[in-house]
Order: sequence, then C-alpha cells, then structure tokens
Amino acid sequence: MSTFAFRLDAGVPPVNIEEWRQAARRKLPGLAWGYIDGGADDLVTKQACEDGFRRWRLRQRALTGTIAPDLSAMIGKTEISLPVALCPVGATGLVHWTGEPAVARAAEACGTRLMLSTAASYRAEEVADATHENHFFQLYPVGRRERIAALLDRVKAAGYSALFVTIDVQTVGNREDEKRWQFTLPWTVTPARALHMARHWRWVRDALKHKRLASAHHGDEARLRAQVKGTAAPTGKLTGALAEAEMSQKHMAKILIQSDMTWEDLVWIRDHWQGPLYVKGILDADDAARAVDEIGCEGVVVSNHGGRQLDRSPASIEALPAIAERIGSRGEVFLDGGVRRGSDVITALALGAKAVFIGRPYLYGLAAAGEQGVREVIELFRAEIARDLILMGCPTSKALDRDWLIPAP
Ligand SMILES: Cc1cc2nc3c(=O)[nH]c(=O)nc-3n(C[C@H](O)[C@H](O)[C@H](O)COP(=O)(O)O)c2cc1C
Repeated sequence: MSTFAFRLDAGVPPVNIEEWRQAARRKLPGLAWGYIDGGADDLVTKQACEDGFRRWRLRQRALTGTIAPDLSAMIGKTEISLPVALCPVGATGLVHWTGEPAVARAAEACGTRLMLSTAASYRAEEVADATHENHFFQLYPVGRRERIAALLDRVKAAGYSALFVTIDVQTVGNREDEKRWQFTLPWTVTPARALHMARHWRWVRDALKHKRLASAHHGDEARLRAQVKGTAAPTGKLTGALAEAEMSQKHMAKILIQSDMTWEDLVWIRDHWQGPLYVKGILDADDAARAVDEIGCEGVVVSNHGGRQLDRSPASIEALPAIAERIGSRGEVFLDGGVRRGSDVITALALGAKAVFIGRPYLYGLAAAGEQGVREVIELFRAEIARDLILMGCPTSKALDRDWLIPAP
C-alpha cells in the first residue's frame, strides 16, 4: 500500500512512534497485535526499557553553530548512515506478508541494516536476493551442531556479514497476550475469533494468500513436532530460515529452545564463524567481559528481548553503563529495548552504545504501511536525532559521552 493511500486513510500521518503504534494496532488482528506488542508477565521490564531513558536529561551547549550533525556509525566494518539498525524479529510475515525482504530493503534504502532472525518468515537467501547490501544474521543455536554448521554455511554463502547469537531464550517467556489469543504458528481461525478476523479481512486475505508463516519457536511445539515427524499436516507453509535448516531435514534434536546452551557452545560457534560475532541478550558486565575476553566475540547487544523474556530483569538502558565501562574499550557495545525517540538513541550513545537496534517501532511501520512505513519510521528517528543534536550543539553523534547527560532530578 502506498503512503498516500495510508495517509488518506488515517487522516493525519503519524508524527511519532506512538502514533505509528496506534496505526499498527488498527491494522492488525488481536493475535498479531498481541504477538508484537506484548511482553512477559506484568510488563515491568518492557515498560522500564522505555521509561529508563527519561531518567537522563540532555546537556545543551550554546552557540556552537551546529547545523548538520554527522550521524554515521559503525557496526563492525559496516558503516550505517544513522546509529539505528533493525532488530531480528521472528515471523515478521505475520505483521505484513511482505515480511523481512521489505524490512531489509527499507533498511538499506535508509543506509542501515537488518539483523535477520533465525525464525524469519523468509529464508535467508530470499532476503539476500531481494536486497543489495550484506545484512546481519541472528542465530538461535537450536538443533544438532551439524545442522547449525549447515545453517551458518548457508548464511555465509548468502552474504550475511556478521553473526549475532541470541542467548536469552532458555525457555519462552510468559507472554500473556499471546496466551489470551491462543497464539500459535501457524495461526488458526476459531469460531470464537471469526468475527474479529472478519473485521481484519484484508490482513486475513493476504496472510492466507501468501502463507508467510515462520516455524517460530513461539509456536505450538507439539504441533510443530508432529509436523516434523509427518504425523500432522502442516497448516501453513513453513518457510523461515529455521524451517529450512531444521524442519525440512525432519530432524530437531532440541526443539526450538536453547535451555541447555552453555559458554562451550559459544566457543564452538566462534570456531565455526569466521566473521564478526556478537552475543545478543547480555545484561551483566561479567558476561559481557567473558564473551569478549574469553570467547573472542567482537561485542554484545545489551538486551532483554524487548521485555519478552524474564520480567523484572534490568531495563537495557539501566544495564548499559556498567557493561560499556567494562568492555567498551575493547569490544563493541550495542543496545536494544524501548528505543522510541531520537533522544533515547542519543542517551544510549552517551552511555556507551555504538549504535542501537529497534524492534517494535519498525514493526509498527510495517503493519501500518508496509515497506514504506518501515522507511518512514527510520527517517523519523534520523530527523529526531539530528534535530536534538543541533539543539544540543553537538556536531556528531560519535562525540556523545557521559558529559552530554545530566541525571534527571
Ligand atoms: C514480535 C517480536 C519477535 C521477536 N523475535 C526475535 C527473534 O526471532 N530473535 C531475537 O533475537 N529477538 C527477537 N525479538 C527481540 C528483538 O530482537 C529485540 O530484542 C526487542 O524487540 C527490542 O525491543 P523493542 O521492541 O522495544 O525495540 C523479538 C521481538 C519482538 C517484539
């Protein structure tokens, strides 16, 4: 759908991420909305991620003549034109059937990158074929090692330039919105929800037509197991990277979660991946030091999975300073979780992040207006960061450090 149509539809275009959120909410049926916007338990961590940024005020220096601040940033050897990249999200096809290829195209049109999820709705090769740049790949190291090695070979051959290993899904968090909607992948239409789905008939039509359903780990594991064994017919096409690597081989030694993963597995991955390697889901400075100093990772993503896993774990922005202080001189530190404003990005950079990743904000754009919506969300961040740096009198986002922040009273 074009932006024009979307804007006529909605009246005034969204002016901030919260308004993109509302636009997405109107477009999606409850089960998809619950999947993207929900979190674990009481949403304490999810909310704290957003609120934590507001504990900091931005310093404003007078008369610096700053007019066009430099926003470029590096993730490994990749330069991005603003310090914002896109998080891995499983089953993006559920948000909009164009899924990860649309998201990756929008990212590169804006000079940034997508970290493609293992549980994506499209295969890693499909996303690579749909784009020009080398994006990043997020690994859920599930299954036997030869299967993981095969997946890494495929990802490497497809041109993905950096690997991010997610380590915070030892089991799936308690996402009550998903339970309320009896969320499974592939999703089903029950009599009770038929009317609701009918109100979202465009979404249902596209989902049924394009069948971009991931083999996501969030799903009904019993059913997925049965499908793998061939004792139950698939109710949708399993097309994700995980589907390809694991399910179609009719082999899943450990189904979908990583409860027994240890540091030794990370050593093994380090040995099998010859590019930049990062750990995603770190909240503890000792763990960050271990990943960089002992395992030889290039860095970490400070993240609590957007508050979808352990509720009451620290907000990312709360955990960031100690981690950046501990490893920032010898490893790259990134952050995700709750970033909704350019001022949030500035705060994270000032506390030691080299760049941030956003998750839900681009899903809102995708749900509301497809690929164009993702672009508009990224450009909104760029405009907000640039404007705030001008107002602060800071000529480049690389200059941001603790001196640019003042604790809120
Ligand atoms: C719907 C949804 C699906 C996600 N799927 C994945 C995934 O497949 N792999 C992963 O490492 N993280 C996944 N995450 C976590 C994000 O990568 C990221 O850590 C989080 O969304 C950041 O918080 P934010 O949404 O507030 O920006 C998912 C998050 C959401 C909201």
